Amino acid sequence: MSRSPLVIAIDGAAGSGKSTLARGLAGALGMPYVNTGLMYRALAASARRANASVDDEGALLDLARGLRFHLRAGEPPELEVEGYDTAELTSPEVESTVSAVARHPVVRRWMCDRQRALGRSGAVVEGRDIATVVFPNADVKLFLRADPEERAARRADERMRSADDAGDAIQARDARDDRTTPLEPAPGAIVIDTGKLGIAETLREALRIVEERTAPR
Ligand code: C5P
Repeated sequence: MSRSPLVIAIDGAAGSGKSTLARGLAGALGMPYVNTGLMYRALAASARRANASVDDEGALLDLARGLRFHLRAGEPPELEVEGYDTAELTSPEVESTVSAVARHPVVRRWMCDRQRALGRSGAVVEGRDIATVVFPNADVKLFLRADPEERAARRADERMRSADDAGDAIQARDARDDRTTPLEPAPGAIVIDTGKLGIAETLREALRIVEERTAPR
């Protein structure tokens, strides 16, 4: 029996370990890794460069149309946005405006179409509305949970900031994002508490779930 390309959707709060798990899973399964947060981050960076208002939906859509998304070859192949590097996309300036940029329905619909195209041949796709809106029929849906303190500590390590600063920034962004896309597990999603498991254990648990969910019946 032929089956359509596998899509694994990973949702969860900022700092819950989504990217680490998604990249590990994609590498282990030989699939591309699509981090959709980078797409919104690049749009926020583009708006800053162009001095565009985060309230101007039309200008933001035009800027979004100018972004070029690729799957960079590697193990796993990963989404990259032409002309935007990690330092810019993870800067405090971008993180403080990305939620405002991402709240516009026209922008979200445009991003959603691009994300579906990027996942068409199968992918591990990560982001806060991926299992609920973008790929509601994904073969496997995982929702990552972690305590606020754990998320702040993880983010502080990644960004080399103090845990207090990182925690405050995460909470402010969570609160803004919640107004656009409430953070809750999609129907059929399996919840993994990454605070209780280490990185390797989280990956093992996710691989076990993927195997179980995709085994021929
Ligand atoms: O996942 P990450 O923290 O990189 O996402 C950055 C921001 O992009 C989120 O805070 C949210 O505002 C937006 N985002 C979104 N929908 C997605 C992925 C990210 O609105 N699927």
